[in-house]
Amino acid sequence: MELIDYAGIATIIRGLWINTSVYPWVVMYSLLEQAEEIPPDAFIVDIVAALRNDHTIDEDIAAKIFREAYTAWKFEIAPGGVEAAVKTETMRKQPSCVVVKNNDEIKAFYWIDRNLDSVGKRMKEKNASLLEEKLPHASIMNYVPGVNAAHRAEVVKNKIALVTGGAQGFGKEIVQSLAESGALVFIADLNKEGAEKLAKTINTAYKRTAAIPLEVDVSNEGSVQRLFESVVETAGGLDICISNAGVVKAGSVLEQNLDDFKFVTDVNYTGFFLVAKHAALLFRRQHRTAPAWKTDIIQINSKSGLEGSNKNSAYSGGKFGSLGLVASFALELVEYNIKVNAVCPGNFFDGPLWSDPEQGLFVQYLKTGKVPGAKQIADVKAYYEAKIPMKRGCTGVDVMWAIYYIIEQAYETGQAVPVTGGQVMLH
Ligand SMILES: NC(=O)c1ccc[n+]([C@@H]2O[C@H](COP(=O)([O-])OP(=O)(O)OC[C@H]3O[C@@H](n4cnc5c(N)ncnc54)[C@H](O)[C@@H]3O)[C@@H](O)[C@H]2O)c1
Repeated sequence: MELIDYAGIATIIRGLWINTSVYPWVVMYSLLEQAEEIPPDAFIVDIVAALRNDHTIDEDIAAKIFREAYTAWKFEIAPGGVEAAVKTETMRKQPSCVVVKNNDEIKAFYWIDRNLDSVGKRMKEKNASLLEEKLPHASIMNYVPGVNAAHRAEVVKNKIALVTGGAQGFGKEIVQSLAESGALVFIADLNKEGAEKLAKTINTAYKRTAAIPLEVDVSNEGSVQRLFESVVETAGGLDICISNAGVVKAGSVLEQNLDDFKFVTDVNYTGFFLVAKHAALLFRRQHRTAPAWKTDIIQINSKSGLEGSNKNSAYSGGKFGSLGLVASFALELVEYNIKVNAVCPGNFFDGPLWSDPEQGLFVQYLKTGKVPGAKQIADVKAYYEAKIPMKRGCTGVDVMWAIYYIIEQAYETGQAVPVTGGQVMLH
């Protein structure tokens, strides 16, 4: 009986490659089903020394074995007897195939390359040639900020990101921007069809695998756990986790029933806890071999996390509470170089939550007479826009600027960045 988590080993391997090149990689793996020859140039590691009595693996020891074997491989002779890789100032040859053995028996192959398409090709062709790519001139970690958003986008290029609630609204805007900036994005949503449709549109537009749909219910721990397992099975790891999925059920504290209160809290508050927990477990694993690599958990919070929202207490309470989680997670996870921050957007009037012609808040507010004297949707919209010093609603681009800032800023954690056009100011 063998209980070794071979997918988890992909994350340890990914960390090692990131650590030595300060650049993101994708790792795919296959378990050995039939006898397979070890390709020349493969990097061979035996993990037997990391096995516990119960047939599980001690990841700290496994990471140590990988680190030591890699150092030997790079600068001396590979454990499998392969010649040393060449190391020069600008060029490093990295192994692109790792063979994992257990007690001398081959168990799994891991393939490494820049993106999902090239790593898939390598795996299919069993191409284990050394990676000769020139290292990026300036590493992403020492990136000098540019003057516009296009420069900013560099901070996510080739990184692997996950966006919950990514099928529509703010989530969709975030997914599209990340893909446009060169990231590989997992679209994790309860709405499977919506996520699939968006991924298809993006991949067709960019002629590469830039987006992958995955179904999840963020309020269900089993579902969230499976989500992160799928990410690791597909790409070997993760760099950015954006917890965006959220729901609204407005209601007076005097009238709202417990089920509605719980529904909102389960998704917005507990859902954030679950997503952050499983992202952090994955990031910690990667950290074992990539200690200098910074990873990000970002919650899309709300201006209602910074000030109360009349007759919308379940929503506002969950958002306020989430900022407590952000700050507390940040304190704990700093040890693993995981930053935890939030973005607090103002109202996204052009998104479906407000503008959906049947269920949107504008229609609802018009019907219920929430805005005195409003005769049409435009009146309701004008009423809300007038509350904002900058006289317009928040957009996906506004939120993206904050996300790029958070990722780029290496010296900040536990913060909430308001993006409200001046509607919510310093307290
Ligand atoms: N729209 C706004 O004006 C506004 C303002 C500030 C903050 N926000 C926040 O931005 C985030 C996105 O809001 P939006 O307006 O884009 O919402 P939206 O309703 O347009 O989209 C939410 C997405 O989340 C998905 N989702 C819902 N429940 C889920 C669950 N249990 N598991 C996984 N996915 C689930 C939905 O299928 C949908 O694709 C939310 O956290 C919200 O609180 C929105």
